[in-house]
Order: sequence, then structure tokens, then C-alpha cells
Amino acid sequence: MSVEPTGIPVLILKEGTQRTAGRDALRNNIMAVKAISETLRTTYGPKGMDKMLVDSLGDITITNDGATILDKMDIQHPGAKMMVQIAKGQDEEVGDGTKTAVILAGELLRQAEDLLDKEIHPTIIVSGYKRAMEEALKVVEEISVPIDVNDKDILKKIATTSLYSKAVQGSRDKLAEISVEAIVKIAEKRGDKYYVDLDNIQIVKKHGGSLLDTLLIDGVVIDKEVVHPGMPKRVKEAKIALLDAALEIEKPEIDAEIRINDPLQMRKFLQEEEEILKKMVDKIAETGANVVICQKGIDDVAQHFLAKKGILAVRRVKKSDMEKLARATGGRIVSNIEDLQPSDLGEAALVEERKVGEDKMVFVEGAKNAKSVTILIRGGFERLVAEGERALRDSLSAVADAVKYGKIVGGGGAVEIEVAKRLRVVAPKVGGKQQLAIEAFAKALETLPSTLAENAGLDALEMIMKLRAAHSDHYGKFMGINVFNGNVEDMLNLGVIEPAAIKINAIKAATEAATMILRIDDFIAASKAGGGKEAGAPGKKEGEEEEKKED
Ligand SMILES: Nc1ncnc2c1ncn2[C@@H]1O[C@H](COP(=O)(O)OP(=O)(O)OP(=O)(O)O)[C@@H](O)[C@H]1O
Ligand SMILES: [Mg+2]
Repeated sequence: MSVEPTGIPVLILKEGTQRTAGRDALRNNIMAVKAISETLRTTYGPKGMDKMLVDSLGDITITNDGATILDKMDIQHPGAKMMVQIAKGQDEEVGDGTKTAVILAGELLRQAEDLLDKEIHPTIIVSGYKRAMEEALKVVEEISVPIDVNDKDILKKIATTSLYSKAVQGSRDKLAEISVEAIVKIAEKRGDKYYVDLDNIQIVKKHGGSLLDTLLIDGVVIDKEVVHPGMPKRVKEAKIALLDAALEIEKPEIDAEIRINDPLQMRKFLQEEEEILKKMVDKIAETGANVVICQKGIDDVAQHFLAKKGILAVRRVKKSDMEKLARATGGRIVSNIEDLQPSDLGEAALVEERKVGEDKMVFVEGAKNAKSVTILIRGGFERLVAEGERALRDSLSAVADAVKYGKIVGGGGAVEIEVAKRLRVVAPKVGGKQQLAIEAFAKALETLPSTLAENAGLDALEMIMKLRAAHSDHYGKFMGINVFNGNVEDMLNLGVIEPAAIKINAIKAATEAATMILRIDDFIAASKAGGGKEAGAPGKKEGEEEEKKED
């Protein structure tokens, strides 16, 4: 509301709207983002801790996965929500390195705060950061090393590095191996590039046993059992009919009443129904199918006829599983049994029902198209299995990134230190106030290794000094922290290896988020419908201006 000289107030915004403008708005957002990145810092790296999150229904999640932590935190502050989005973006793009991106964004903003204190305008910081990002990406490209994507040894090291921070210690080796095997199986060579579609990897969770019992299956696993005890439990050279139609008598859509007074008529009626079902089964058998996988129901009578013909059948299979089966076996999902042709059948070397833990599952193995695999995760209890899945998804993505882009870098903070070093060389050449922003960017990058060190109980400052010294010559580009003994070592030798794509994406995502927040100078929040108090919107009052400086 502003007041005209005439004294008549001019209403621009709706009553109850919260507005914070200028520096206050900016600082408020920065504070929120810093808080988020601070929360994640303790979980970073192989010695990072886990978080326990309880949702409103009391469900507990214990995890170390950045994207999951932010998702479950149910964040309200609009500025902080952007961090959730970076994490999600990073997770979707490259699948790992979510904390790297969020911590870096938080740190870029913390550094920006110092520059703001020095009366440097946000737009200068923004352009400095953008410049620094371009340089940083160039450096990562330059120092990254091409790999032979068929070298399983290197791929396994990449998987292991990704799994290091997750609570799967005892089975790390096994999960790394499975990740590599799975990716190698589904990777397709197109031209001189590899294409990896993670959708071709199905992950099935079943608690019981231990993570070490996790299995890689060359095909698809259906979490259902064979419908009838009289059916075979194992079919070799399977010809599979994939049906999206019920093997049942369809009920009429309208309520109909048929009055029967003669028992003979009743029998005839039932016989008729039986006849229809028998015809359906005959039709299926005629095509040569010996396995039926049905998305809908299978009537008891139909089950009986199928069993008599020696056909193995599974019903009420999930649509997504049907699609995977179609892709894997080369079959076609048919929605009208009348249309089923021999050419629609999928093929697999073996279809078998096996007991997994308490339940029975149907395994479809040796499928025609081998570019489809399943990982069956086992584990002592449900939460462990869930975290196992998240860990596995990260390592699968990391291996996939390496195979797709074919380039790696050293982990353990090596890249960050090297990039920071080179930025410090570039900065004076740019000069002016932008120089300060580029130097701030370098400083922000160095927080990643110092966080790794801190979490490992090492002296962060001392480690940074050692790292800088090790990077002072050209051969030191991959010198990073061995968090287990506190030494600075060559990360490629140590086997701490990450795909370059993860670092590149993290640097991009963090810079974009930080610069976007830096450009916001006005915060206008509509009053909540229903008159409730605003949740986390920065409505700062005068007098609250002074912020606590954390360091
Ligand atoms: N053995 C190791 N020694 C030193 N550093 C390691 C080792 N293993 C992994 N790291 C480093 O740990 C960092 C990754 O940690 P972490 O997996 O906790 O975070 P993130 O990948 O950013 O997030 P998220 O996995 O939740 O997506 C990388 O910088 C990686 O180089
Ligand atoms: Mg990780």
C-alpha cells in the first residue's frame, strides 16, 4: 500500500500479502539455503552420517541419500525448496552427487553474502559466478580421463566409490559387481557411443536373507505365483502369451436377471460358460503358448483347463511388468484373445516359480532380448532393503554415466581442489570486482573436500593445505583425501573414481540455483487461503536485520 499526496491510499496487493524487498529478501533466501546445505553436510562422503526421517504417519526412513533426505524433509520455505529441486534434477540427470550439488550451492551463497557485505552488487556476483562456472567446466573436461567402457575393473571402482557413503558396507563389493554386470548387459552400442536406459533394469525388493543374497537375474521377475497347483512350475523353451484380457466371463454392464426354473436349464447355462472359457484356453494353446502371463484375472475354470494343457499361468501382473516382459521376451501384449497369433508370443529359455523368502515369485530368464535384467534386493529388514535400493540406484547411475560419457575423474575432493587452483589463476586476469566473485567460487568448491575431511574427523584446514601443495604441480591433479588414513594420495591409484558427468552436472546445477537466488530482490507471498499463518515465508521485521554470522 502506498499513499498518494492527496492522502488516498492506493492498494496494489491483496490484503494480507507478505512482502519483503531488497537485501532482506535476498538474505532471507540465502539463510534458508545455507540451513539446508548445512543439514546435508554431515552426511557427505564415505564417513558421513545417516539421517532418520519420520513422516506424518510415523513411517521411518533411514538414509544417506541426498535426494531422499530433502524429499522427506517436507520443506516449506520457497527459497529452500529450490534446493530440493536441484537435488531432484541432479538425481534425474546423473543419479548421484546430489549432496555435492546442494552443498556447493549453499556455499556459493555463503560466499556471496561476504561479497554483499563488501557492497558488491548481486549482478556482479552473478556474472562472476557464471564466468567461474564456465572455467570450472572447462577444467573438468580437460583433466578428465577417457576410459575403456569394457573395462569392468574401472567400472567396479566407480560403483564402489558411489557406494562408499551408503550403509551397505558388508555387501559393497557384491552390490558394485551387480551394478557393473547389470549396466554392461543393458548397454547398447549406437555408432561409437553407448546408450544406457536404466528402465531396462528392474529392481525388486524382498526382505529376508541379507544384502549379500542380492541377485542379478538375466530377465524379468514377477512378484506373483503360478495360479493353479496343477500347473507346471518350470517351463523350458517358454513361449509366452502376454494378455491384457481377462480369462473370465465378462459380467454384463447392466444388471440383468435370468430366471431359471428347470435344473437342466441351469446345467446348460453353466456348461455354456465353461465352453466359452475352454474355447479361450484352446485358442491360446493353439498358438503354441506354454506360458500365459495375464494382466487381468483368470477364472478358476480357465485355470483348470490351462493346467490340463500343461500351461503355466500367472495373473494380475502389473502393467509395468507386462511392458518389461514384452520388451525382454520380444512378445506383444494382446488385449483380445481372439487376435492372439503365434508371432505375438514372447520367448525365454526358462520360466520358473521359485521361493524367495516367504513368497513365491516367477522368474523369466534367458529372454530373447537380453537387454533386460532384474536385480532382486534382499536384506534382513525392510528399511535396510529400501536403503539398499537407493544405494544401488546411485551406483547403477554412476556406472551408467561412465559408460555413456566415457570419462572419469578422481574423487575424494581432487577435482574440486584442482578446479579451485585453476580458478585462482584465472581470477586476476579478469580483475575488478568479478575477480572477487571468481575467487569466492574457488573457495566454495574447496568446502567439498574440507567437508569430507571434517566428517572423517580430520583437520579440515590442514587437509586443504596439504591438498593445495599436492596440486601445485601438473601431476597432482588427482590428489585427494584418503579418508581412512588422512593421507593425500592419487585417487586413481586408490580407486576412488567418479564419472566426470556427475561433477559437471553438480557444478552447473549449483551455480544455476545460486545465481537464480542472487537475482531475487523482492519476495511477495500471497496470504494463505483460509487465513492460516504463512509457512516459512520470509516475513522479516525491522530490527531482525542483524544476522548471526556463523564463522
Ligand atoms: N573412499 C573414498 N575416499 C575418499 N572420498 C571418497 C571415497 N568414496 C567416495 N568419496 C567421495 O565422497 C563424495 C560423495 O559423497 P556422497 O555419496 O555422500 O555424496 P553425493 O554423491 O554428493 O550425494 P548422494 O550420493 O546422496 O547423491 C565424492 O566426493 C567422492 O569422491
Ligand atoms: Mg554419492
